Amino acid sequence: MRLEGRRVVLGVTGSIAAYKACDVLRGLQKEGAQVRVVMTAAAQELVRPTVFRSLSGSPVLTGMFDDPQGEDIKHIALTEWAELILVAPATANLIGKVASGIADDLLSTVISAAGCPTLFAPGMNFRMWENPVVQGNVRKLKGLGYRFCGPVEGRLASGAVGVGRMADADEIVRAAVQALTGDDEGKGLRVLITAGPTREFIDPVRFISNPSSGRMGYAMAEAAAKTGAEVCLVSGPTELTPPAGVEMVRVCTAEEMRAAVTERVPQADVFVGVAAVADFAPAETAGAKIARADGDLTLALRPTADIIAEVGRAKGDRIVVGFAAEAGEGVERARRKLEAKSLDLVVLNDVTEPGSGFEVETNRVTLIRRDGSAEPLPLMLKTDLARHIWQEVLKLVGVTRSGGVA
Ligand code: PMT
Repeated sequence: MRLEGRRVVLGVTGSIAAYKACDVLRGLQKEGAQVRVVMTAAAQELVRPTVFRSLSGSPVLTGMFDDPQGEDIKHIALTEWAELILVAPATANLIGKVASGIADDLLSTVISAAGCPTLFAPGMNFRMWENPVVQGNVRKLKGLGYRFCGPVEGRLASGAVGVGRMADADEIVRAAVQALTGDDEGKGLRVLITAGPTREFIDPVRFISNPSSGRMGYAMAEAAAKTGAEVCLVSGPTELTPPAGVEMVRVCTAEEMRAAVTERVPQADVFVGVAAVADFAPAETAGAKIARADGDLTLALRPTADIIAEVGRAKGDRIVVGFAAEAGEGVERARRKLEAKSLDLVVLNDVTEPGSGFEVETNRVTLIRRDGSAEPLPLMLKTDLARHIWQEVLKLVGVTRSGGVA
């Protein structure tokens, strides 16, 4: 009962997933939360308010001017009552209204007047979710501190498969628990994360690199920082904005990344290697631009230092998490990496799979644990995945600190 006595407004909007909000309501109640349901007009076309009234045991609020039997639950009173507003499912329309400051019905008015966190669990057609305007609204809201859980990939009402399906009720309830109770779970932890590519120079204007955008690593840094952890992000060259509250160390080459990590890792409780560190660098870097007129060029490459293996060798009580980019099925290779580099967790992604790996905003990974278990996760936004992985890391920290076997 992690939400004993906590007060949640559950907003239900007009997505076909509206009926699944019943499971979310039940899940919140099982955790001990008091829930008041607000339905938009479109949601009422899909599920009758009496369903939610029966489940919640309270009047369902549907209009700005409802006045159910003497209870003072007009929109301001509701915002004062709520400790969390959870919108599940959240349509593109509702997200767009909140992002634009529009408050033209009870739910959008409650959200715009709220002083508490708001968590959206979007559910919509995948084309709507991919629409750049919707994505822009989501980015804007995230930047303003609104939280999101999902959507996830799956079969949609239209029969199409894509990212747009509302996350499972359990996952939404977990996100609600985190929003209400988990903000300081990482407090006291010092976390060192690497992200992005490295550049290995052939001459002053040419280098060997890879397509890492830094998205996955920055999302990890943000997820950890949001739980109160002290985060240092060692980043190769990217175009991303540094996450709020994170100490940034910018590097370029694998050797610079190694130096930055070596200096800071002794102070870290957790190391997460997300960076796509170049495995090879030119044996020599020419001092001047190599001229084409010089004819054929053969490059001698030398392996770079394996940063995470070095961190693993001096591991102590530190939790060490590695990402593994594999082309194709790589569970066994990832298990071997975990053993060889003394890692606690490997996040394996098949970078050849669509929507996964380099550059894109989503990722599909398999978590490989020390006990040998391999848990495949669905395709998720990197931001949601980062929160999931960070929760896994917190569990490992908890086990280590309580003297168990990580
Ligand atoms: O940045 P994005 O565009 O969001 O893309 C995300 C990602 C694909 C880069 C990320 O999800 C990922 O898979 N990162 C690991 C990439 C990688 O280098 O995998 P690897 O299997 O080659 O290396 C395994 C581990 O060793 C990684 O933790 C890596 O950081 C580390 N390593 C690798 C080489 C090296 N010289 N030193 C290292 O520490």
